[in-house]
Amino acid sequence: MVVIRGATTIAHDEKEEIRQAVKELLEQIENRNLLLRDEIMSIVFSSTSDIHAYYPAKAAREAGFESCSLFSAQEPDIEGGLPLCIRAMLFVEKDMTPHHVYLRGAKVLRRDVASVYNIAIDGPAGSGKSTVAKLLARDYHILHLDTGAMYRACALAALQAGVDVSDEIAVADLMRGVKLEVVYTDGVQRTLLGGRDVSEEIRRNDVSMAASAISKHPSVRMHMMEKQREIAGRMSCVLDGRDIGTFVLPDADFKFFLTARPEIRAQRRFDELAAKGETVDLNELKEEILRRDEQDSTRAVAPLRMAEDAVLVDTSDMTIEEAVAFIKRAMQEKI
Ligand code: DC
Repeated sequence: MVVIRGATTIAHDEKEEIRQAVKELLEQIENRNLLLRDEIMSIVFSSTSDIHAYYPAKAAREAGFESCSLFSAQEPDIEGGLPLCIRAMLFVEKDMTPHHVYLRGAKVLRRDVASVYNIAIDGPAGSGKSTVAKLLARDYHILHLDTGAMYRACALAALQAGVDVSDEIAVADLMRGVKLEVVYTDGVQRTLLGGRDVSEEIRRNDVSMAASAISKHPSVRMHMMEKQREIAGRMSCVLDGRDIGTFVLPDADFKFFLTARPEIRAQRRFDELAAKGETVDLNELKEEILRRDEQDSTRAVAPLRMAEDAVLVDTSDMTIEEAVAFIKRAMQEKI
């Protein structure tokens, strides 16, 4: 026996809407799981406490689900929960891998039942995107893909090989011969270059500028984009970068663009580097960050730009916790 889950939402607490939504949900579950009616032993429904107009079980009976046992219950009121939502659990007499179905925005942020979803977080250096992405990934139990680390690894490979980062042909040649891997240990991304863990080295300040220069090359970007799409298509993840919402995943479920005032971004990078024992001049760092912004925003291919459907988050006067809470609320409002 398998259990198949599904959920849907309605716009108004009205009988006809409930009937339609339940019928659609059950039909989609049947179609996607190639179910025969008599394979369904029973269906348990629950609906949020704002639904009173009709019983989903009755709607199912009317939709022709007559031979299985049906049951409806009301859920307690949960703060921040999805409103006007009907959930279903089907007990099915069949040996199969269940395909859970979430319709009309009823996607749940649960790795075990939801289909793959992606959160795109773009923004300039020091906007907080990487820290925010890490925390979201931890809280939602999904993967964090730091795409900047991939460009940084390419840059490091070029610096180590003495290849001019502005020479696209030489860089492309080099990249063909280098194995770049992104692996996860205890949920933390490690970046490997030729099998060697370079996760710390790529954070060096000289690598930042080289990464920005290398990311201008279309061939490098194509290579990175393919890798990123392949990972994001396979599993739910939060990706941070410059072009995720605009180019890599234009259909990402959630898109955010983080920003902050330049002096604040410079100070954050300064603190980060200082904590690692790297000494840099704060003013120089600010100049570098502005140069990098300029370089990343004006390149011909996939420049740093906010996607039209992204939510802008200015983190200048926010703590990281506040930024994460803001993003979670915005996601909750969307689903
Ligand atoms: O986010 P970061 O500082 O680690 O990124 C380093 C550089 O890599 C950045 O200046 C531009 C480039 N990059 C990019 O072009 N596209 C991405 N998706 C991520 C990073």
